[in-house]
Amino acid sequence: MSRATVPPSLTLSRRDLLGSGLGALVAATLPFGTRAARAASPPILTAATGLAHLLGSERAATRIWGYNGASPGPVLRCSQGETLSFRLANDLDRETSVHAHGIRLPNDQDGVPGLTQLSVVPGESFDYAFSCPDAGTFWYHPHIDSAEQVGRGLKGLLVVDDADPYPEDREMAWMVDDWLVGDDLAIQGGFDDLHTAAHGGRLGTLPTVNGLFAPSLPVTRGERLRLRLANGANARILSLAIQDAPVWVIALDGHPLERPRPLSDSAVYLGPGQRMDVILDIPGDAPDTGLAVVDAFDPNVPRPLAQFLPQGPKDKSASPRPAPSALPPNPLPALALDGARSLTLSLQGGAMGSMDGADLNGERLSFQDLVGKGFVWAVNGKIYRGEDGGFGPPIDSLRLGETVRYTLRNGTNWAHPIHLHGHAFKVLRRDRPGLGLNLWLDTILLAPGESVDIAFTADNPGKWMFHCHILSHQMTGMMGYILIS
Ligand code: C2O
Ligand code: CU
Repeated sequence: MSRATVPPSLTLSRRDLLGSGLGALVAATLPFGTRAARAASPPILTAATGLAHLLGSERAATRIWGYNGASPGPVLRCSQGETLSFRLANDLDRETSVHAHGIRLPNDQDGVPGLTQLSVVPGESFDYAFSCPDAGTFWYHPHIDSAEQVGRGLKGLLVVDDADPYPEDREMAWMVDDWLVGDDLAIQGGFDDLHTAAHGGRLGTLPTVNGLFAPSLPVTRGERLRLRLANGANARILSLAIQDAPVWVIALDGHPLERPRPLSDSAVYLGPGQRMDVILDIPGDAPDTGLAVVDAFDPNVPRPLAQFLPQGPKDKSASPRPAPSALPPNPLPALALDGARSLTLSLQGGAMGSMDGADLNGERLSFQDLVGKGFVWAVNGKIYRGEDGGFGPPIDSLRLGETVRYTLRNGTNWAHPIHLHGHAFKVLRRDRPGLGLNLWLDTILLAPGESVDIAFTADNPGKWMFHCHILSHQMTGMMGYILIS
């Protein structure tokens, strides 16, 4: 496949942004830009069909669904503690919504049709407005018919700027995607294929960064970059690797690590839905041939993500820069772990598993009968769907303000990135070694057979989705909600 070349990345330092004192901002739709345009009135996100040149302008265009016809859509941006407003206009031929993934927002702004709002029908619009209490890297996407709507391109980054400038030289924000396209670059159908859903989900054939395959991005020798990266893929798990450049992880799912960690210490596996902020230093003697950025999830088959093209004079004597400092923590509610209620949530089902049946609408069905109804996954022996295909009873009911401890047990042969809306949880224990303990996350990737303990304080009333972010798993049973009142 040919390598697409894009114009120099246009970025705006966060200092410029903060200096401008703007509230809600939308970046111009430049592929690598985070340059912000002043939003006179709340920006409009129009969900619409569009054409994307995933392999560059010389190759065939792909018909996609995107915000303002593009994938990713514009970067939504505001400062910590400020209100982000935007209008969703629906130009598609089906119902949609916008969910702001990871933002601790009021329940009626959470964008889940049938649970927190009515879906936005074709030709209609919906105005979202919520304050963003946590700084960090987040994203947005529809929350209805997610496998197809997100899989065809509806997604975008949402950045909440830190109150105090962080000492980086420049920032880049990447939406990483994974398109399932044929040789003609057309998106393949089969979004509800049950075989795919019972395995690892819809894996793509073409990785992209901000809608381009393996873009070449100019960088300056000696500069320190902050890379904000979101995994917007339906099913692909990512493991970022950057050739010959020191990389530190400073935040996961928007929330700062207490101490930045070299990426080389332990691989970080980023499940669909997750985000990672890293600091990387372009070496003073970086070669003209460039630095490869790859997804090394399978180290034997690295998938290209991008190529940094170093510019500027070579300086062999340049010494490595000191480790970056930690970001200030977000204002998360304290945990009252003493006496906190515990609950085990077992994830069950999938191919080559041991699930022989589960309850659906109060009726016990065999695995075969569940498959006939389009379900292959369950939580604690249940599929949390209502009679009409909507939502049934909650997985758990919490008292407002209580701290709860969940043991998530992956009893399947597949990995699952499990996401909770409206909160961040702390990882108290996990089977898998490496980077993982004491992190605050909104999505946690469980390896096959792994179990983890998480805890959170239920400080946000409402009905909050709890589901796997492999979207075809979500659609086929690994989904429910918790009620906080
Ligand atoms: Cu990224 Cu329930 O969503
Ligand atoms: Cu899953």
